[in-house]
Amino acid sequence: MDMSSSLALSPQSLSQKAADVARSAKPILRFDQVGLEYDGRDVLKDLSFSVNRGEVITILGPSGCGKTTMLNIVAGFLQPSSGLALVNDREIAGPGPDRGVVFQSYALFDWMSVEDNIAFSLRCGGKSKQEQLAVATEMAALVGLQGFEKSFPYQLSGGMRQRCGLARVLAAHPSVMLMDEPFAAVDVQTRETLQEEILRIKTETKCTIIFITHSIDEAVFLADRVFLMRKGRLGAFDEFVVDLPEPRGSADNRLHPEFLSIREKIYRTMRADAS
Ligand SMILES: Nc1ncnc2c1ncn2[C@@H]1O[C@H](COP(=O)(O)OP(=O)(O)O)[C@@H](O)[C@H]1O
Ligand SMILES: [Mg+2]
Repeated sequence: MDMSSSLALSPQSLSQKAADVARSAKPILRFDQVGLEYDGRDVLKDLSFSVNRGEVITILGPSGCGKTTMLNIVAGFLQPSSGLALVNDREIAGPGPDRGVVFQSYALFDWMSVEDNIAFSLRCGGKSKQEQLAVATEMAALVGLQGFEKSFPYQLSGGMRQRCGLARVLAAHPSVMLMDEPFAAVDVQTRETLQEEILRIKTETKCTIIFITHSIDEAVFLADRVFLMRKGRLGAFDEFVVDLPEPRGSADNRLHPEFLSIREKIYRTMRADAS
């Protein structure tokens, strides 16, 4: 008798287990009735949610609904006008090394090599040049840029530049990665590969990810939960739990019935809003 099949956990029971772990976990991030106004105009109001350690949250919503504003509060670039925003149970007082931001524009230094770009965030940390380069080499390998450490940004494709930007953020070992439409400027095939890489890197680094996108497919593929923000609702959002089989980065998940069903639900919710 083949014992391996009876002992193996099915993908369903594995993801159930992951869901149980997530439920019992302490939140790494919590918004409690957060409001933000610009010049007396509310952009976010009474926004409350929490994110567990190791979760991937993707954020969808029309332009101007406040996605970047929300991410900027988590990053510490903006202070809420009301309510509480907490990371690790501490009120967010400003930017910190525990939160790394990956921008849509690659934000690389053109005059620095890949390894110097990656090591940049370590310069202020008191590490020797040799230690910085060792981390840069490790991070270059983690994002699939081995062999390109001495190249300059102009010698890289868009996808490779974004990998370099990612490696630079990862070098600081943030526990939360904040990503604002990071793959909007790369072609579809590269984008799918990068999505799969993100999930692989997430498994390796165990970081928590908040990821803004305009692509429903990208949102569902990456997420444990999708938050769908709606224009004019000032931070009220619909939440979709994604329960796809492990490994989550498998391209097969793009054709899984759960993937297709959630994609349809989100699409219908968005359409209902637009009409
Ligand atoms: N610095 C600012 N000053 C005034 N209003 C702003 C500023 N930044 C953003 N806003 C406004 O806040 C709202 C939300 O913006 P944003 O968070 O960038 O939306 P999204 O990222 O979802 O497209 C928009 O109406 C935008 O015009
Ligand atoms: Mg934005």
